[in-house]
Amino acid sequence: MTVRPLATSPVSPARGTGRDATAFGVYVHWPFCLSKCPYCDFNSHVRHAAIDEARFARAFAAEIAATAERAPGRTVSSIFFGGGTPSLMQPATVAAILDSVARGWSIAPDAEVTLEANPTSVEAARFRGYRAAGVNRVSLGVQALDDEVLRRLGRRHTANEALAAVAIARATFERYSFDLIYAREGHTPDAWAAELRQAIAQAGEHLSLYQLTIEMDTPFAALAAAGALKIPDEDCARALYDVTQTICADAGLPAYEVSNHARPGRECRHNLVYWRSQEYAGVGPGAHGRLVVDGRRRATATEKRPEAWLMRVESLGHGLTTDEALIPEEIADEFLLMGLRLAEGIDPARYAKIAGRPLDAGRLAELTAQGAVEMTPDGRLRVTRSGFPVLDAVVADLAA
Ligand SMILES: C[S@@+](CC[C@H](N)C(=O)[O-])C[C@H]1O[C@@H](n2cnc3c(N)ncnc32)[C@H](O)[C@@H]1O
Ligand code: SF4
Repeated sequence: MTVRPLATSPVSPARGTGRDATAFGVYVHWPFCLSKCPYCDFNSHVRHAAIDEARFARAFAAEIAATAERAPGRTVSSIFFGGGTPSLMQPATVAAILDSVARGWSIAPDAEVTLEANPTSVEAARFRGYRAAGVNRVSLGVQALDDEVLRRLGRRHTANEALAAVAIARATFERYSFDLIYAREGHTPDAWAAELRQAIAQAGEHLSLYQLTIEMDTPFAALAAAGALKIPDEDCARALYDVTQTICADAGLPAYEVSNHARPGRECRHNLVYWRSQEYAGVGPGAHGRLVVDGRRRATATEKRPEAWLMRVESLGHGLTTDEALIPEEIADEFLLMGLRLAEGIDPARYAKIAGRPLDAGRLAELTAQGAVEMTPDGRLRVTRSGFPVLDAVVADLAA
């Protein structure tokens, strides 16, 4: 059975994804791209020969069936095709994978089904096919609205082409989002404010706004080390972050996570599964999962190299290379690390239950006095706006 597109009624944000309610996400990794962007360290690979999609679809079916056997009886609340570039897949491949998910578990009638797409015209031409396959949300990698910047980011689209893809997404899917990268070389708060306002005019309910990170072993890292790429210093990055928060909040798209903005109730439900430490299966090359098996939360990861993953699945029935039960301290640290990224923060009682001890009262008092964290009126602990730029330090302090 293929998961059919939903009626055009708004997606209920509450069902199955209440803050601490049971949700179950399925992440599907498609590891191929047409070219490698110089800033990117995702598990993505360029192949010059055609990809045997039917063979991959069979391997996905096997891995999904094996995962469903270990974690049976779940109701899937979200499915996310990430990459790499999932918009290079034929719609029939997406439909086959959704069929496999539906064979393994039941899928909630209002499940969110997202596909990451690169905004070229070739890919936008497949949107209707994805919708017919059951995708009801796309997330487009627009990255910038300036052609010269896009060229330097190694992108294969122009700003106009990206905006045309956004318009096709708006006309095709109930929900869409797009990504921009800011704090690029020479990026000033004024230039970013203008670009962001232009983006918001085209945005629907959701935007992902990432500060450029120089990832190790990428061409950008080599350029930065050679002094040939200069990203904004800390003060400028902070000013860019502040501009982002103010403009988005004024436009009704407040941050609900460090880099993610949405109209209230229109958050990406799949990503909330990660940040709320709920349960998810990860399938495909290099996918990570967190499954509860026999009452223990387990961390899973699969073989990263696409062809090695294929062969592993074909011989063993799954591509797992990591499958380990987490100890309470690890689960509690991850709960903090992920949950404190969210504007809604965390429930300290849930932390205490996982960790077997409450958060350290002394450290909490210190961070509160520094203005880095605060308690909400309903008893949740969250990072303040001034704490977010130093989030890693806050988490390290509480987790230590
Ligand atoms: C899995 S990636 C890309 C999906 C899709 N292939 C694309 O490029 O549009 C998801 C997003 O991460 C962001 N991203 C990737 N590398 C980054 C980096 N080094 N710094 C900041 N953002 C990054 C980009 O905005 C990208 O759209
Ligand atoms: S940013 Fe997207 S298109 Fe570029 S290499 Fe990474 S996954 Fe591929």
